[in-house]
Amino acid sequence: MKICFIGTGYVGLVSGVCFSDLGNSVICIDKDREKLTQLENGDIPIFEPGLSELVRKNLDAGRLSFSDDLIGSIKKSDIVFIAVGTPTAKDGVSADLSQVFSVAKLISKGIKSHKIIVTKSTVPIGTGDKIEKILNKNKKKGLFTIISNPEFLREGEAIKDFKYPDRVVIGTNDKRVIKIFNELYRPIINKGAAFVSCSRRTAELIKYASNAFLATKISFINEIANLCEKVHVNIDDVSVGIGLDKRIGSRFLRAGPAYGGSCFPKDTKALAKVGKNYNSPLSIVNSVINFNEKRKKDIENNIYKILHNKIKNKIICFLGVTFKANTDDLRDSSAINLISKFIKKGAKINYYEPTGSKEILDKHKNVKYFDDLYLAVKKVDLIIIHTEWDEFKNLNFSKIKNNNKKVIIYDLRNLYDNKSFINKNNISYYSIGRPFNA
Ligand code: UGA
Repeated sequence: MKICFIGTGYVGLVSGVCFSDLGNSVICIDKDREKLTQLENGDIPIFEPGLSELVRKNLDAGRLSFSDDLIGSIKKSDIVFIAVGTPTAKDGVSADLSQVFSVAKLISKGIKSHKIIVTKSTVPIGTGDKIEKILNKNKKKGLFTIISNPEFLREGEAIKDFKYPDRVVIGTNDKRVIKIFNELYRPIINKGAAFVSCSRRTAELIKYASNAFLATKISFINEIANLCEKVHVNIDDVSVGIGLDKRIGSRFLRAGPAYGGSCFPKDTKALAKVGKNYNSPLSIVNSVINFNEKRKKDIENNIYKILHNKIKNKIICFLGVTFKANTDDLRDSSAINLISKFIKKGAKINYYEPTGSKEILDKHKNVKYFDDLYLAVKKVDLIIIHTEWDEFKNLNFSKIKNNNKKVIIYDLRNLYDNKSFINKNNISYYSIGRPFNA
């Protein structure tokens, strides 16, 4: 099929490239010419395992191309995916839909033949109706079919998530379009994905409710982890014990620092705002948002306890600063929040980040980036394992001990078995949801 993606951000790029890999002819559109030239050469501006190879493969096969010609590319396509950003608006809670609406206006002005317009961007319930209104302005009613097809890709696992999703959700009542999408996703459905056909508004809500539910699971396990620290229970055993119940499921039950990234914090707030707007307050979602803020404070306070409240001039080393492993994304990473708190209190920060991601941290003079893990942890007062990168799972502790009088580690991802550390000389090891005696 002939497809175009408007927006070559995370979602647009990954989905566009994956659709081309399924044999479709795909144009990825963006305003940023420099970025497009980079992509045309097979260079990927984001860190996503396997994506660069897939881009090159499909460029070579002639199925994938990049363009800044929005109208020209849409004219050549049957299906148009809108995959532009919907960041948090200035009010700090709602989704900013300006990019979505401005794309809709451009399509409305420039396109005169029938197109299926698909919202891939995460948008509040009823956005499809608003897009329809914009598109049908001055046009014969029914020229465009507007549908919702939310994405469920995780950064770092996006290609796998695209190719082997649990479900594909298509929001439209148009039977002809449902058939077309069933065909478009056939290779994926054949591998076992469920095909969920529902109304457009339902699809929009499925996306928000999914992210909010996953965020709830994480906050729930983090709160139970707090209790574990008080009652001498290991959270990892609790996660296994409850996750084996198929009604609960074992995934997204890893206790850790506050959840972050460009989706959960933004989407939970936007969903809570939708609830408020419709006079249907979402008290659970609001609790999750508040708990996640409190989580940041709890972890911060634990660190003060570990350092006996003496923060000034202490050197704290972060291993990993991204919001999770396998991404270079620092958006809403709890590391950023913690680092800014510690600097204000006069601490110095060393950090090692496997992806070299550092833009947001560059501006602080007391924050030092190291491209060598063992130099970063040299002569420091505290090592915080912030991100669950594989390379932190087998640290060379004798090397670390040789360069430090005393080694204190706070492992926010429980990468190590508590007991094996307690017996090791000169290492004070603290983790999440296990007896915490700082
Ligand atoms: C999330 C969803 O998982 C995707 O399904 C969705 O498509 C995407 O948002 C989106 O809306 O675009 P992502 O933000 O890439 O994906 O990251 P996750 O893997 O979901 O992790 C989010 C946060 O939760 C991270 O800070 C991670 O460390 C934390 N987390 C996750 C935990 O603390 N414990 C867990 O068990 C799982």
